[in-house]
Amino acid sequence: MFTQPPMLWYNQKKFELFIPKSQINLIVEELACRINKDYQGKKPVFLLVLKGSIFFASDLLRKVSLDCVVETVSANSYGAYMKSSGEVNLILTKLDITGKEVIIVEDIIDTGLTISKLIENLKLFNPESVEVVALLSKPGMRKVKVNVKYIGKEIPSRFVIGYGLDYSEHGRNLPSIYALSE
Ligand code: XMP
Ligand code: MG
Repeated sequence: MFTQPPMLWYNQKKFELFIPKSQINLIVEELACRINKDYQGKKPVFLLVLKGSIFFASDLLRKVSLDCVVETVSANSYGAYMKSSGEVNLILTKLDITGKEVIIVEDIIDTGLTISKLIENLKLFNPESVEVVALLSKPGMRKVKVNVKYIGKEIPSRFVIGYGLDYSEHGRNLPSIYALSE
């Protein structure tokens, strides 16, 4: 059984339990069901945005029953800080997505800058379609409009860690999601 303290500290910052692992499991299950239904008979390419989405993606993809391919891309807009920098660095390796149905897997959509820049870049490869599945979304933080087809849960504009999300690279391995105490 995993440990799930109601609160914890990183670098003297207090975080409180926000989304317990049991709830994350239900969210991931539902997202996988929707994708399995919508992409029946198709062979999508799941594009994982590193590093934050790896925990979410590994649970999600093990519930996806489609014949699919997994690719990764590096994107970074937070650096070591708790605020989106607005500047997005993308490292696009050679991607075989021409004519393919792409599903981007993201941990969280905040300002929307990362995902919109990524989508813009992917379109240069002429994919058949590009959709996004994000575990979390902070609609109150948007700076650009993005169409996210699959959203696990909308949350208030709070900084969260755990289940892949980090505070200066720490906290990714927490099984549950914690929010910075206000
Ligand atoms: P934008 O602003 O481009 O940001 O939509 C998306 C990326 O920023 C990171 N992010 C967070 N990371 N806790 C984190 O650990 C958060 O609350 C948070 N909000 C955004 C994340 O990497 C996401 O892909
Ligand atoms: Mg991310």
